[in-house]
Amino acid sequence: MRNGGPKARIAVIAGDGIGTEVTPQAVKVLKAVRAAARRPMEFVEFDWGADKFLREGVTLPPGAVELLRDEFDAILFGALGDPRVPSNQHAADILLGLRFKLDLYVNARPVELLDDRLTPLRDRTEKDIRLMVFRENTEGLYVGVGGVFKQGTPDEIAVQEDVNSRKGVERIIRYAFEYAGQNGLKRVCMSDKSNAMTFAHGLWQRVFKEVRQQYPDIDSRHLFIDTLAMEIVRDPGQFDVIVTCNLFGDIISDLGAQLAGGLGLAPSGNIHPGKTSLFEPVHGSAPNIAGKGIANPLGSVLTSAMMLDFLGWKPQAELVRAAVRAALRENYVTPDLGGGKTTGEVADWLVDFVEKNNFAGR
Ligand code: NAD
Ligand code: IPM
Ligand code: MN
Repeated sequence: MRNGGPKARIAVIAGDGIGTEVTPQAVKVLKAVRAAARRPMEFVEFDWGADKFLREGVTLPPGAVELLRDEFDAILFGALGDPRVPSNQHAADILLGLRFKLDLYVNARPVELLDDRLTPLRDRTEKDIRLMVFRENTEGLYVGVGGVFKQGTPDEIAVQEDVNSRKGVERIIRYAFEYAGQNGLKRVCMSDKSNAMTFAHGLWQRVFKEVRQQYPDIDSRHLFIDTLAMEIVRDPGQFDVIVTCNLFGDIISDLGAQLAGGLGLAPSGNIHPGKTSLFEPVHGSAPNIAGKGIANPLGSVLTSAMMLDFLGWKPQAELVRAAVRAALRENYVTPDLGGGKTTGEVADWLVDFVEKNNFAGR
């Protein structure tokens, strides 16, 4: 993270597919906010993604991590994934590479219903669907430790190790409790599969037991991940904060996204407090709709609001959220939400809203 100066420096990595469509629209909204705030914010674009990989064989270029770490405050990221790269090698190198190498151990994925009519759950309203998923983001089954043996033979074996360190588990569980305490939230739920994954998640159990004792004012409990998946659909109102491992957090955050209107709306932050952090929508590159101009930009825009919060631009973050809520209320939305607007039309509407409602800049 850069040290000093009022100017925010943002690295923009749009990536592949709809990442290249929604990210520039989010930047457009950020530029309107910047003008409203009369505060400096600089954007530098990086073309890392499938095209560059296929053209030059480069995924995460040498020196990239140091550059981002030392010269930028935050990274606004789109999505990676391209059918022309079936191995997904570039996505693993760039996205997982940045999460690991920048040590972005908190993957914060809020699930927030912004308009009652968007949830597929009957009789649920905004007050029932408002929770935060904290996904461990640097370990677990994602570390790429493993291998194959006798590949291509009938006896082939594939092994993928689940790596859980005491430090890694403790810091994400502690972060969840701290977040709850700082935000006046009373309930923290840790979820694992310790009944089957006795070694890896036995560690989660031991650490959770220890850490929860240090937060007696918070009502903490444990649910196995299968039960959590069921409970979050049956009665989402019972959760404030959920903390879980890397893989389960990935799955539960898509489930949560759908409860709040779908992947097109879901934001996330990959955070290490005090260090250069990366903000991306929960969705992927959506090859099935890429190039059509109909991707929902609101997930990326709400992601930008999370980035503004992280940068300390709180009133500006609120202005962006107010704009998104207003667009939803007016039904000025893309086809995934039942509207007929294009990606660019929705973003232009938000820019207009920001320009007309510049309460944050006053
Ligand atoms: P996806 O999130 O790209 O798409 C899932 C479904 O949601 C599709 O039907 C898609 O059209 C829809 N959708 C997603 N975002 C939308 C938006 N903004 N507006 C409207 N509809 C939207 O998931 P997938 O199809 O499983 O994955 C596609 C590629 O993206 C894969 O290569 C995958 O690995 C990658 N991926 C990347 C990230 C990331 O970079 N953070 C996240 C998830 C998936
Ligand atoms: C996400 C994505 C990634 C993940 C993939 C692309 C590796 O699904 O950010 O949710 O599993 O973390
Ligand atoms: Mn995912």
